[in-house]
Amino acid sequence: MTAATCVSALHFYPLKSGAPVDLRSARIGNEGLKGDRQMMVVDEAGKCITARANPRLFSIHTVFDLNETTLLADGVGHVTFRRDGLTPMPVNIWGTDVVALDAGDEAADWLSAHLKVSCRLAVKGERSHRPLTLTPGGEMSFADTAPLLLTNSASLEDLNRYLEEPVPMRRFRPNLVMDDAEAFAEDGWGRIRVGEVEFIVAGPCDRCIMVTQDPATGVPAKNVEPLALLGKQRRGDDGNVYFGQFLIPCNDGRINLGDSVEVLERKTPVSLTPGTAVPVPRLPSPTAKDGGSTAPRERELRCVGIVDEARDLRTFRFVSTDGAAITYLPGQFITLMPEIDGETPRRSFTISSSPSRPHHISVTVRRTRGGGISDWLHSELKLGDTLRAYGPLGRFHLAAANDCRRLLMLSAGSGITPMISMLRFIADADLPYVVHFHHSARTRDDIGFADELSVLARHMPDRLKLSWNLTADAVEGLPKAEAGRLDGAMLSRLCPDIANRTVFACGPDGFRQMARQAHGTLAPSGGWPFLEEAFGIDAASVEALPEIGEWSVEFTTAGRMISGHGTTTILAAAREAGVELNAACEAGICGTCRCRVEEGEWRLAANAADPERGALSATEKETGYVLACSTTPIGNMKVAL
Ligand code: FES
Repeated sequence: MTAATCVSALHFYPLKSGAPVDLRSARIGNEGLKGDRQMMVVDEAGKCITARANPRLFSIHTVFDLNETTLLADGVGHVTFRRDGLTPMPVNIWGTDVVALDAGDEAADWLSAHLKVSCRLAVKGERSHRPLTLTPGGEMSFADTAPLLLTNSASLEDLNRYLEEPVPMRRFRPNLVMDDAEAFAEDGWGRIRVGEVEFIVAGPCDRCIMVTQDPATGVPAKNVEPLALLGKQRRGDDGNVYFGQFLIPCNDGRINLGDSVEVLERKTPVSLTPGTAVPVPRLPSPTAKDGGSTAPRERELRCVGIVDEARDLRTFRFVSTDGAAITYLPGQFITLMPEIDGETPRRSFTISSSPSRPHHISVTVRRTRGGGISDWLHSELKLGDTLRAYGPLGRFHLAAANDCRRLLMLSAGSGITPMISMLRFIADADLPYVVHFHHSARTRDDIGFADELSVLARHMPDRLKLSWNLTADAVEGLPKAEAGRLDGAMLSRLCPDIANRTVFACGPDGFRQMARQAHGTLAPSGGWPFLEEAFGIDAASVEALPEIGEWSVEFTTAGRMISGHGTTTILAAAREAGVELNAACEAGICGTCRCRVEEGEWRLAANAADPERGALSATEKETGYVLACSTTPIGNMKVAL
């Protein structure tokens, strides 16, 4: 005897195909849960009607009150009938004749009006006999095949790994749901005890089109899910598709939520054809402790690790000082706001850690000498130091690949950081992506994460291919490496099927521009997206644009005006004028500072990390929206702030 799992849900369905009633405790008799499927709707010939033919049945709820039964549905009121004094009515359910009881004209009229078909309500009476066909001597309600249906929440969880839109257990209309078992463990159960009742596990439940119907609306899923998936994963050698197990009670008794399940006997599971479905990549689950959201927010981080990755490339590992896990999407960035000499400069860095390891967050920073935050991080930040940060932010993440499972990741310099985050996540979650990762570096000493990438490639031999180009070093001894700058010809040699891949490109402007043009040439039909990210621009590394002269900005909502001379940004002008405007990355990436220019000319500021202004939609651009942090006013301007 093996201790097994426990009961997590109990449902009965008073009306066949009608809405369920949830229970905490249930009396079990020879027909299953007391009251289950004791009513069914029949047509004029007495044949049963189910939600397969009339999905409006899903909407009918049942209420019992002493000797009365009430059927009700939203928008159509209710009907009540007494259960005593009903007259016999011959009905037929799946070929078996049964003498049921007729619930009367009022119930028939209400149902006919709601279901838009002439019908009557049949009630199973004490003398109505419907034999159980699975074993001799048993008695059946109006359920299809067996007195009860058992399902396993782990089995549904397993199925949902393959569905773009997970389905709830309600689709399968179980009576008993079990928790804490292995997925599909129920296939091998022969006899179980739950609470006071012993059950024969009579075999798997073959599924039909009804599981595709949303019980709330009755509308069938256009993609025929989850039936299509069951056809790929749960098809028996006999051609039927199976989910859940039928139960036949061996004795009367009570079962309660939380009752454990003992497996008394095992059996050989029904033989299934090998599964062919591919799991759907899932984004990280929001963590309850963090409020369950990837929405950006400000938090304090403590540095708990510093690791040298390559020459002038260092990883800084942080935890949140409030103890919360940090939820983000692989490829997103975070804005660091350290206090340096009484100022709080900001700079955005792509997160290099994977959200599959949520208890720390890392950024990997290439040192830019001559001041700025990257220089400060390398020279000043120590273990235990704290700084403020805002994020996560950004649209350059794995989910942006949509349905495409073949990826080309192209990076140069510290543009490797979003790629390592995505690769770590793909490996940790065993997602079915096929990735070609190509990195461009000056020398082999400048390649970050080289050892880890080799390990990942060994672990995903058919799914991760690595290649390199070195612009100022010999490539002898470095496998899959070419010398010189990456260009279209090299790219087509290294990745000839680029047209069949979503491309992620991250690196300096020139690198991304080359990659964009090469993609346009090599994948002219533009089937899969080309996604690009500029990593944060260090203020100290930006060459200032020429001065502009006199300018003024009128903030029309606030009724304030500010003027000055020389190069500024709308954000700087707003701050100087005391006009409130949120900002996060201050590099033209995150979109937090979007505002609408009503009048006047502008140009991109030197800190604009994305010349395409990808944080704004096409409509926003057309209607005058700009990113205040990286937009420089020219002359007189009016802004709707
Ligand atoms: S603050 Fe991020 S785009 Fe301006």
